[in-house]
Amino acid sequence: QKGGYKHFMLKEIFEQPRVIHDCLLGRVDHATNEVSLPELDAMPVPKRLHIVACGTSFHAGLWGKQLIESWAKVPVNVEIASEFRYRQPILEPEDMVLAISQSGETIDTLAGLRLAKEQGVKVVGLCNVVGSTIARESNYVVYTQAGPEISVASTKAMCSQLTLLTLLALYWSRRKGLMADDERKKAMRGLLGLPEVLEASLPAMRDKARFLARTYSEAKSFFYLGRGLCYPLALEGALKLKEISYIHAEGYASGEMKHGPIALVDPKFPTFALALNDALYPKVKSNLIEVQARGGKIIALTHPGLDLSVDHPWLLPEVWGPLNAFLALPALQLFAYEVADYLGKDVDQPRNLAKSVTVE
Ligand code: F6R
Repeated sequence: QKGGYKHFMLKEIFEQPRVIHDCLLGRVDHATNEVSLPELDAMPVPKRLHIVACGTSFHAGLWGKQLIESWAKVPVNVEIASEFRYRQPILEPEDMVLAISQSGETIDTLAGLRLAKEQGVKVVGLCNVVGSTIARESNYVVYTQAGPEISVASTKAMCSQLTLLTLLALYWSRRKGLMADDERKKAMRGLLGLPEVLEASLPAMRDKARFLARTYSEAKSFFYLGRGLCYPLALEGALKLKEISYIHAEGYASGEMKHGPIALVDPKFPTFALALNDALYPKVKSNLIEVQARGGKIIALTHPGLDLSVDHPWLLPEVWGPLNAFLALPALQLFAYEVADYLGKDVDQPRNLAKSVTVE
């Protein structure tokens, strides 16, 4: 069942190239570089979008917001479902709620969906499990087609959510006639090429993760830092580490460090940084120099050719723009996996957690 892998989590991390491939099947036209999401053709492009989700799915939503706003110019509010459901969110008739849930059974996300529907707002479900409650109760459903996810820690589901959110941003931008042709082409080519790049990179990524896990396994706390599109990934990296290795980890937008958290940094409090080749790289770099000035050790996901000087640079192959997330994500997952496995934790069944959270 585990296909020769020691744990389901590892198997599911390695399935991600296929997951991206399957998500794209039938949804991209290679000849025209157009995205089709026929599930949503009957629905107008929303005036405002409210993304409601929990945990890893919430992090996917935070990432997707940036693409939807920049490509489709739809304002997006992303909210943790357990907060959204208990306040009085302002929902207008032309707004839409996007409920993101791998299991389709998360009770808070379901409650958010029901609240939106009661107020006459349409809901799109972005679900993995076919026929799940959220999928059934949504007005429109887009399936992530990632296949069953057994490991409690969600990995390939997030990869599929990021793929679909990219497609959704492209799809709405096409419907609004917004995105320039060459930009769209780059995005499409990049997406179509991702499975191959990822497949080729995963074995070396695992070796690097294993080495770093042994080097850092005695840490009691970790910061995960990123900015822009890497900020949600920092949150996700920290969540993965804490839930399966039980090491305290906090994800922060690196620009926030000097507003308090940097007080924690010392030689025993390492930082896992995302310093990819994007417009915010110089800012991230200067934030990391501040961490180093306090004696903090740094692992940094980065790209060849950047002038970053840290204890452990972790070079990733560079792809087009926002799609670099698809390579950073498995690196974060593999690091958490290798730390947890090295520490002898029950990787697939971490303590105190359930795969689908059907009670409050
Ligand atoms: C983390 C994890 C959880 C889920 C969250 C939402 O690895 O698995 O944080 O992401 O419970 O679950 P779904 O997506 O099923 O609604």
